[in-house]
Amino acid sequence: MDDKGGFPHYMIKEIFEQPRGLRETIAPRVSLEDSAVRLDDVRISAEELRGLRRINIVASGTSRHAGMAGQFMIQELANLPGDVDYASEFEYRNPLIGPGELTIVITQSGETADTTAAQREAQAKGSRTVAISNVLDSTIAREADGVLYTHAGPEISIASTKAFTAQMAVLFLFALYLGQVRGKLTREQRRQYIRELLDLPEKVEAVLKSAPDCEHLADRYYKVPDFLFLGRAIHYPIAMDGALKLKEVSYIHAEGYPTGETKHGPNALIDENLPVVIIATCDRNNPGSVLRYEKSVANIKGFKQQSARVIAIATEGDREMAGLADHTVFVPRAPELLSPILEIVPLQLFAYYMTVRKGLDVDRPRNLVKSVTLE
Ligand code: BG6
Repeated sequence: MDDKGGFPHYMIKEIFEQPRGLRETIAPRVSLEDSAVRLDDVRISAEELRGLRRINIVASGTSRHAGMAGQFMIQELANLPGDVDYASEFEYRNPLIGPGELTIVITQSGETADTTAAQREAQAKGSRTVAISNVLDSTIAREADGVLYTHAGPEISIASTKAFTAQMAVLFLFALYLGQVRGKLTREQRRQYIRELLDLPEKVEAVLKSAPDCEHLADRYYKVPDFLFLGRAIHYPIAMDGALKLKEVSYIHAEGYPTGETKHGPNALIDENLPVVIIATCDRNNPGSVLRYEKSVANIKGFKQQSARVIAIATEGDREMAGLADHTVFVPRAPELLSPILEIVPLQLFAYYMTVRKGLDVDRPRNLVKSVTLE
């Protein structure tokens, strides 16, 4: 039975299911009137969470990009430092972790061999673990000390989309919970963040309306062999995932890079043959975000002087960007820590339409599988 719900492919169906996945992941865990987050299935005591010194995050592929964004959220809201590791590298790093540290293991399938091995390694070294998984009772979820499920629904397409945005929402919820338990956030701060979280599904609905613009971009760019995706701070993981999305489904080479790093090498590549996709949103209530935005504007001016074509993801109403970039896809205003959940959607759509335009099998890219259960 064709369960694509009238969509031509699973990937586009799952991109459009993100508002529902976010709603079902967020709503049961927050109380606006209490300004509180409830994460009963974490199964780690508040006292132990208060005693934490560090958080380590381990994952593979797109799930690791969620972890990279989550690290910013946890540091900002819970005042906890941490590292993010590739699961496939974790065992070689002989990580110096142990009691007093929490390892967050992120996995859509809950069966990825590298990630399973990494969780076992962390536990062997005395670290408690919390798994973020999209599959009930998966191996990694069962073996973890605590589990936080994403409720994105079954994700069939090999490229991860709705699980990714749900993972970032869960990481934000966990960061908020840690901040709440560790007394780092006022009641009003928590209430404001909870309200922003509850507004997310509707904002993603708004971004999905840019699908025709992304399809139009694909019509113009599908023959281009190389792309550079750029983002600063918490937007860098989104540039990384936008690049991964494009290369894993369309086979077009794409690289994600921190925007500030282009001057240390990649700038030599940027000319009329290498389009630049840059995350250049701005949370006007956040001075750091404004500073980063102004630097990105300067970067874009430089790329334009090098004859590069620039596709920008910007905040709605940003007329300066519309006049500067060759193409701009707008996302609604959102706090800096939540904006990544909106920014990835046009990049998912772009990758999807580029692939369809190339006539490839977008749900089953060559050489890839949905869950790599062998190391
Ligand atoms: C890859 C998938 O095989 O594994 C990616 O194609 C995914 O989409 C990665 O991000 C990690 O998988 P999981 O299930 O551990 O998140």
